[in-house]
Amino acid sequence: MKNIVILTGAGISAESGINTFRDSGGLWEGHDVTAVASPEGWRRNPQLVLDFYNMRRKDALKAQPNAGHAALVELSKHFPVHIITQNVDDLHERAGSKNVLHIHGKLFESRSTLNPRLVYPIEGWELKLGDTCTKGSQLRPNIVWFGEAVPLMDDAARLASKADIFIVIGTSLQVYPAAGLIDYAGPDTEIIVIDPNLPAVKKHPQLTLIAEKATTGVPRIVRELIEKYN
Ligand code: APR
Repeated sequence: MKNIVILTGAGISAESGINTFRDSGGLWEGHDVTAVASPEGWRRNPQLVLDFYNMRRKDALKAQPNAGHAALVELSKHFPVHIITQNVDDLHERAGSKNVLHIHGKLFESRSTLNPRLVYPIEGWELKLGDTCTKGSQLRPNIVWFGEAVPLMDDAARLASKADIFIVIGTSLQVYPAAGLIDYAGPDTEIIVIDPNLPAVKKHPQLTLIAEKATTGVPRIVRELIEKYN
């Protein structure tokens, strides 16, 4: 049975109405990245950072999973599937996916600024100044910001190195260490990249590039894999 590992980025949620980061009209427009997504930005203006993620939460609550997310659920009925996502939204889970590793954190979680292990669910859209952990410290979004370590990277690398088929969907592969996960795929691993604006990927003996949107490209590839290997 082929072991399938998927790496997703903002592109899989684009057709659900959640803006990607680097396409025109993207999320950072009007915002300096370091102002809203870095430890320095948080120190300088925590209200701005909270407002920014509150807006992202509002957007995510309005969004629905699309045919790309749904196709990955279908895939998991036929193969062992692990999803490594750079997305902080919960659309994979809401579509019904089970094994989802959020390497850049989760929009609907907060965590203590005193002890990163104190993590809490966020109900609704708002995290406010004055919301505190059980030890009395301000809560921040449980998001991995620029300049911060990626605590789940070892787990993600382990998964990627065991893939028989590695599928990359909707990511510009510009942000490391996540972008380096593709390099853990061995020479026998099939790599499939689905993105209307294909990112640069190193040569690989079994590389398939599909310049298509997630809602059409992912269901098609899922159908093909099920037909080919079942
Ligand atoms: N279907 C599939 N892919 C799409 C679609 C679509 N409908 N629309 C856009 N894309 C692709 C773009 O072509 C681009 O390659 O999605 C990709 C989005 O790239 P980015 O905006 O750079 O998002 P991502 O790669 O997920 O960013 C990585 O960087 O900003 C940080 O931490 C943040 O997790 C994020 C990380």
